[in-house]
Amino acid sequence: MGREIARWLASAGAAVVCAARSADRIEKLTESIRNAGGSALAVCMDVSKRRECEEAVQNTVSTFGRIDGLVNNAGVLDPVAPLADADPDQWRYNLSVNLLGPFYLIRAALPCLRDARGRVVNISTGAAVKVIEGWSAYCAAKAGFAHLTRVLAAEEQQITAVSLRPGVVDTAMQERIRQVGPKMMPPQKAAYFQELKETGRLEAPSVPARSAAWLALHAPADWSGELLDYDDPRITEPAKKAFPAPVE
Ligand SMILES: NC(=O)c1ccc[n+]([C@@H]2O[C@H](COP(=O)([O-])OP(=O)(O)OC[C@H]3O[C@@H](n4cnc5c(N)ncnc54)[C@H](OP(=O)(O)O)[C@@H]3O)[C@@H](O)[C@H]2O)c1
Repeated sequence: MGREIARWLASAGAAVVCAARSADRIEKLTESIRNAGGSALAVCMDVSKRRECEEAVQNTVSTFGRIDGLVNNAGVLDPVAPLADADPDQWRYNLSVNLLGPFYLIRAALPCLRDARGRVVNISTGAAVKVIEGWSAYCAAKAGFAHLTRVLAAEEQQITAVSLRPGVVDTAMQERIRQVGPKMMPPQKAAYFQELKETGRLEAPSVPARSAAWLALHAPADWSGELLDYDDPRITEPAKKAFPAPVE
């Protein structure tokens, strides 16, 4: 989904910084954006590491001079296991990526975001508010993340911070659910995710990505702190006009 968010933003003329652990994939992405006439920088990093988050922000400022928006999209699902069996190291890593990483990035980017009266878009999930057995770390981290967004919105009047629920999206994370779910989740829940794929009901990544990109550039200040749905017409209608087609 992060790739599609970057492509939508680039289509609107935004300079984008794409960050992930896989250097090859983000370099390919940024190269394609530059080849299409856009501006993009690849930053290979692990958001669970505070120093790497701070360096990514510094790198962004030295390259582009400012930060108008931050999209916290990086996320991991594992461990998928009942809480009683969940590996504590994987549990800690989940919170480091899904909750601490966004905290490090927001904290480092705040001075620039204040200057730009910028926006933070935190990619949330239904699991932030619903119980999904077998996903204890993911549920806890994402619930904390949505609440962090509310606190951030209350503390920082100069910026706009929102959470976005992207629906159920056809990405590697869903593949992982279909792979481990049958062994580690209640049968009905695992079957639900399998059925979504088989019946073609998973959302294409570009659809929620367009909503995230629109929020990163245009989220109204009075929405700050809210947990929004990707298919909310208040987002999708203006987003379709703002982003007619992604960069090729
Ligand atoms: N797919 C869904 O149905 C769904 C539903 C609700 C919410 N979400 C949320 O949507 C977001 C995107 O998920 P997705 O479905 O696109 O999952 P995905 O296909 O597994 O992609 C996850 C992305 O996060 C990056 N990432 C993971 N760990 C990282 C780390 N430690 N440091 C930096 N980057 C890291 C990955 O790149 P590298 O591996 O290269 O680091 C990858 O680009 C996540 O926050 C997820 O929780 C997804």
